[in-house]
Amino acid sequence: MVWFSVPALLTWLLLQVVWSQPAPETTEIDLDGGIDQDIFDINEALGLNLFEGDIKLDGLQGRNSIIGDNYRWPYTIPYVLEDSLEMNAKGLILKAFEQYRLKTCIDFKPWEGEKDYISVFKGSGCWSSVGNRQQGLQQLSIGANCDRIGTIEHEFLHALGFWHEQSRSDRDDYVSIMWDRIQSGYEHNFNKYDDTTSDSLNVPYDYTSVMHYSKTAFRNGTEPTIITNIPDFTDVIGQRMDFSDYDLQKLNRLYNCTSSLSFMDTCSFELENICGMIQSSDDNSDWQRLSQVPAGPNTDHTNMGECEDSGYFMHFNTSAVGEGSTAVLESRILYPKRGFQCLQFYFYNSGHESDQLYVWVTEYTSDHPNGTLTLIEEIRGSPADYWQLHHVSLNVTSKFRVLFQGVRGTGVSNGGLSIDDINLSETQCPHHVWHIRNFTHLLDTSPEGTAGRIYSPPFYSSEGYAFQVGLYVNGTSDNPFNLAIYLHLISGANDDQLQWPCAWLQGTMILLDQHPDIRQRMSNQRSVTTDPLALDSSSNYFWDRPDKVGSTAYFPNGTAFMRGPGSGTSAFLTHQRLRSRDFIKEDGVYILLTVEDISHLLSTQPSASPTFVMNNSSANTIRPTSTATITATPTTSTATSTTTTKPTSSTATSTTTSTATSTTTSTATSTTTTNPTTRLTTTTTPITTTSVILTEPPATDILDSCSDNPCENDGICIIVDEAPVCRCPAGDNWWYMGEKCEKKGSTQENTVIAVSSSITVFVVMLIVTITSVVCLKKKYSQGKENSENLTLEESKTSF
Ligand SMILES: *[C@@H]1O[C@H](CO)[C@@H](O)[C@H](O)[C@H]1NC(C)=O
Ligand SMILES: *[C@@H]1O[C@H](CO)[C@@H](O)[C@H](O)[C@H]1NC(C)=O
Ligand SMILES: *[C@@H]1O[C@H](CO)[C@@H](O)[C@H](O)[C@H]1NC(C)=O
Ligand SMILES: *[C@@H]1O[C@H](CO)[C@@H](O)[C@H](O)[C@H]1NC(C)=O
Ligand SMILES: *[C@@H]1O[C@H](CO)[C@@H](O)[C@H](O)[C@H]1NC(C)=O
Ligand SMILES: *[C@@H]1O[C@H](CO)[C@@H](O)[C@H](O)[C@H]1NC(C)=O
Ligand SMILES: *[C@@H]1O[C@H](CO)[C@@H](O)[C@H](O)[C@H]1NC(C)=O
Ligand SMILES: *[C@@H]1O[C@H](CO)[C@@H](O)[C@H](O)[C@H]1NC(C)=O
Ligand SMILES: *[C@@H]1O[C@H](CO)[C@@H](O)[C@H](O)[C@H]1NC(C)=O
Ligand SMILES: *[C@@H]1O[C@H](CO)[C@@H](O)[C@H](O)[C@H]1NC(C)=O
Ligand SMILES: *[C@@H]1O[C@H](CO)[C@@H](O)[C@H](O)[C@H]1NC(C)=O
Ligand SMILES: [Zn+2]
Repeated sequence: MVWFSVPALLTWLLLQVVWSQPAPETTEIDLDGGIDQDIFDINEALGLNLFEGDIKLDGLQGRNSIIGDNYRWPYTIPYVLEDSLEMNAKGLILKAFEQYRLKTCIDFKPWEGEKDYISVFKGSGCWSSVGNRQQGLQQLSIGANCDRIGTIEHEFLHALGFWHEQSRSDRDDYVSIMWDRIQSGYEHNFNKYDDTTSDSLNVPYDYTSVMHYSKTAFRNGTEPTIITNIPDFTDVIGQRMDFSDYDLQKLNRLYNCTSSLSFMDTCSFELENICGMIQSSDDNSDWQRLSQVPAGPNTDHTNMGECEDSGYFMHFNTSAVGEGSTAVLESRILYPKRGFQCLQFYFYNSGHESDQLYVWVTEYTSDHPNGTLTLIEEIRGSPADYWQLHHVSLNVTSKFRVLFQGVRGTGVSNGGLSIDDINLSETQCPHHVWHIRNFTHLLDTSPEGTAGRIYSPPFYSSEGYAFQVGLYVNGTSDNPFNLAIYLHLISGANDDQLQWPCAWLQGTMILLDQHPDIRQRMSNQRSVTTDPLALDSSSNYFWDRPDKVGSTAYFPNGTAFMRGPGSGTSAFLTHQRLRSRDFIKEDGVYILLTVEDISHLLSTQPSASPTFVMNNSSANTIRPTSTATITATPTTSTATSTTTTKPTSSTATSTTTSTATSTTTSTATSTTTTNPTTRLTTTTTPITTTSVILTEPPATDILDSCSDNPCENDGICIIVDEAPVCRCPAGDNWWYMGEKCEKKGSTQENTVIAVSSSITVFVVMLIVTITSVVCLKKKYSQGKENSENLTLEESKTSF
């Protein structure tokens, strides 16, 4: 039998809540000062007075222009992630792109010289222009505190051509604007447009839109500025969790979307055709489509039995068949586009512990037209009286079927195995699952503050760091009636082998909206990135070893450990929103946790620049006056670090190639004495980290425009901040630099670091200045070996 396991993607299903022991010393910091700042609050605090709060108008734009076809982007939008962005924001922008890929037909790709592209940078505040302005580089700002996925989705919806929801022509039928409560001078933010100006695309007014202002927008005082005509929606408007159904409908209508890149299939077994799934003929039993089984489940998972004449799931009656009997349910043939998939489904075992469910994949290739069968995962466990969420990572590149095989075990069964609510998408599975059962009771009895705080079980990241999530069920004392959530590093088995402070891991905490259709879920999430140089109040490294900077805590079984300080937010989700949608289902909530290494995003536009092959001249981004910390992180491999964050597998490959070759460009080593670091990863491939500070000499005389192309040597002129900037051509080991591309550089010069790829022609043309950052980085760069087996051990205990 083949045991196939992807250690990085292991799932811990935990069925009980861990109550915290008193550990008052644990400190927590709020990412956003504990204030649930909306886009408009952030921009206002910065003194920005942008059109409607976060829209950048340009000269070409009559502010009432209808969004015509020439303002649309191509389906695949080229982007550049500028170095100015915070690391957490970079990681989140890529996650927002994944949401677009899952739910719409819009895709994003690193800019490769296309005429128009979006430059995402850290400006002051969060803002965007509306539509494709057809002006080459188009800026979109993700400033401080804008690093929330809903905010990023909102700004990109502007860029795609959408105005705010409450500026629709018919808005007065749905909301009342309280003009006397608006700060004077800000009234224009509540303009509305007639229907020749903004097209509502025949979609109803949407209180739940991610494009709607909240009730507090631009208020002077404490009273709401927007009152919904249906009072139930007062606290609904202004959500920044995810796209609403109507947001997606509008986007899909505007762009004529019919399919999405990463969504593959969903099945809740409500229809008799069971989504085209078939009963295999190679087994000796069948799955049945039922709505109830005496031994459990009593209801399906989709509707929890609330809908009459519906609510079906598939059931394999293990009490009716002999030991060793099997029943196989096969999906229809599916066609992958991206090469990695996440299969999610709910499973209910009312049979016996020895009854098992196997997930297989049959892959059809030209060499094996009849298919090759691979066992992906074996799911076993004691019977339980509730549905359990499972995630299975697949890695299929040619057309395939998924097979669910139930096997009757040796024990006595009164029930059987049931599955429901299957989703398959070409996305990455979450790494860990924290299932909190009996949640309503918890919500009703938890006091505010630390007395109502619970901790997740310990988890390990694929790099080997141990961590834990703390959840204040009834909010912190300062912020009651909210869920507050914090990520803590805790002492773990590998601490001696790991580098400290922990560098550039992004932890994402998602409260799952358990809506049946994955595309309609509006899960709530926040991410935290471990900045190795961040300091706590006593000037220790915030993300240093928990046994150095943490405090003692105890697991429920009494074992002591050390818990580091937490980073997160006390304004994760209001109770009001928590009780809406499907966050609580079957009286449980799921918190999905993913901790991944995003250090590859440190390097200059890892995805954008390397793939440049323009016919005439190839270009790189040059920032005339900026100082950039550049860490070239050659990673050969890792499904974990590449697949999630790279838009397509082909880009992943090209990026990997280009960064990997930077090691061979040995000028990097000649500039610094940084030691290579071997980090613990799931794959045994080492990651080498080299870091230097690079500065480009400041630009002096700026020319007026690009019209009389100031760039020499076939450089391309583009306008940045109304000033022309040259993007200069480069070859494998040479490049042009200087503000007019007048100077030539090559890898022979040791004052310059070149990160180049052998296929492509990317080079970072910046002059090296060595500062103390190099030393600090060296400090947490220490060799580590012999630790690979940890994750394997861990995966065994997980099922
Ligand atoms: C806010 O309201 C107060 C009292 O009505 C008024 O004096 C003040 O000018 C207002 N401020 C703004 C910015 O509108
Ligand atoms: C969508 O379809 C309409 C009608 O066929 C067409 O006018 C429009 O240009 C299309 N939009 C895009 C973005 O392709
Ligand atoms: C399962 O099989 C047993 C034995 O044949 C039968 O008594 C029971 O009703 C079956 N359960 C369902 C849900 O059909
Ligand atoms: C595929 O199956 C068909 C029919 O069962 C059989 O005739 C054929 O030999 C098989 N091909 C291979 C490559 O196994
Ligand atoms: C994914 O599949 C490909 C080929 O099917 C294989 O080479 C690769 O190692 C797999 N990756 C993982 C992480 O399983
Ligand atoms: C939830 O937990 C409380 C306390 O542990 C218990 O009294 C209650 O019966 C539980 N409710 C359910 C539905 O399990
Ligand atoms: C939750 O916190 C609020 C605000 O302090 C408090 O009024 C309420 O009683 C708390 N709930 C429980 C169950 O203690
Ligand atoms: C997948 O989709 C189904 C049907 O649309 C839904 O009911 C279910 O909750 C989803 N399943 C999971 C595990 O996400
Ligand atoms: C106590 O629980 C922790 C975390 O679940 C586990 O790692 C540890 O091994 C347990 N200790 C004992 C003695 O069971
Ligand atoms: C590059 O330019 C030449 C002529 O300058 C042209 O023949 C060739 O097709 C171009 N290649 C690409 C990839 O555009
Ligand atoms: C570069 O492209 C331009 C047109 O885009 C063409 O006029 C010029 O000849 C090309 N140069 C080379 C060296 O191919
Ligand atoms: Zn906006």
